[in-house]
Amino acid sequence: MAVFNEKVNIRCIGIDEASVFAFLANEGLDIFDPKKEYVVFPGFCDVHVHFREPGFSYKETIATGSKAAAAAGYTCVCTMPNLSPVPDSMETLALQLEKIEKDALIRVIPYGAISRGELGKELADMDEMAYLVCGFSDDGRGVQDDEMMRNAMLKAKALGKPIAAHCEVNELLKGGYIHDGVYAREHGHRGICSESEYEQIARDIELVRETKCAYHVCHISTKESVELIRKAKAEGLDISCETGPHYLVLCDEDLQEDGRFKMNPPLRSGEDRAALIEGILDGTIDMIATDHAPHSAEEKGRGLEKSAMGIVGLETAFPILYTHFVKKGILSLEKLSELMHKKPLERFRLPKGKDMCIFELSGEYSIEPDNFFSMGRATPFAGEKVYGRCVLTVMDGRTVYKA
Ligand code: DOR
Repeated sequence: MAVFNEKVNIRCIGIDEASVFAFLANEGLDIFDPKKEYVVFPGFCDVHVHFREPGFSYKETIATGSKAAAAAGYTCVCTMPNLSPVPDSMETLALQLEKIEKDALIRVIPYGAISRGELGKELADMDEMAYLVCGFSDDGRGVQDDEMMRNAMLKAKALGKPIAAHCEVNELLKGGYIHDGVYAREHGHRGICSESEYEQIARDIELVRETKCAYHVCHISTKESVELIRKAKAEGLDISCETGPHYLVLCDEDLQEDGRFKMNPPLRSGEDRAALIEGILDGTIDMIATDHAPHSAEEKGRGLEKSAMGIVGLETAFPILYTHFVKKGILSLEKLSELMHKKPLERFRLPKGKDMCIFELSGEYSIEPDNFFSMGRATPFAGEKVYGRCVLTVMDGRTVYKA
């Protein structure tokens, strides 16, 4: 623990102490309490968020989403293309880029769609969008057609961009909306089977073997997905993946009859959760991404069966992971920084600036969705007691959030 200016207990993880202290000396010390403990990281990066503009600004805007991200220690996020219009051509992507240019508080880098309108029928104009996007995704739905995915991978490979796949076989869904497990059976809900995720991952792994495309799997949730990706990596395929904090902390036994617990993929079994933690520890899972998916109060207020899929995640990610994994000695602060900063930036070749985020670690507080900067309020972590509060976020040497 370094003592900054003989007053502040502060530890730097993966960031140069001298430059941090020089910045803070200029910025002033008013945010620090000499009785508390602080940690500094390079700015976090989330490669999977939904900022809802253009098209759904009643759920979230680029201004509110990027403010929520900055207030949670993020300096870079990648936005998914399930928007209206879908960014599937230069023309539609430009609409989103204009809003980003005008309203984003931090780096907001879009994905381009894989298919036109995310309909899975025709490839999007991947060539013309390539230099402006972090990769290609049809997030929100899986690419059902094998030939379509093969062509997308060949194109992405030629363009030097990754495919980020939401893996889900529609035929296997059968009207399910939570995990097909104990809770669904006991409470009379329709379940989403694990195969719906891992079958498509298995198909894509074969296609990666053939096309040599850089391939990233979004929000993995099942033990079979972890095992498939572990084997594919051992074989040397160019594969990476992410999971979300909620899949590491919760399972279907924690479900309540409340839309706050509903997202796609769903919270799986305790065994799946354990396999995901194992995957984080052995490096099979490369990074944490929140799948921050805000919806209106009305859309989330219809219970498990009828609510929209998706929870907000940016403003709970660090405190949840710190409290559940670092404080319990399961993950080190260094590993957490790798999962939330180094790996996402490296994998998606995202720009790294003079960025940092500072968290206060010693004070316990409770997660209060009413205090979120995000317009979304639905989180399964509401009311949970946590540690790790963001006090300062700096991007390119400029303060973008100060508590
Ligand atoms: O829970 C989810 N919400 N999963 C998805 O795949 C899409 C996302 C959304 O856009 O709301």
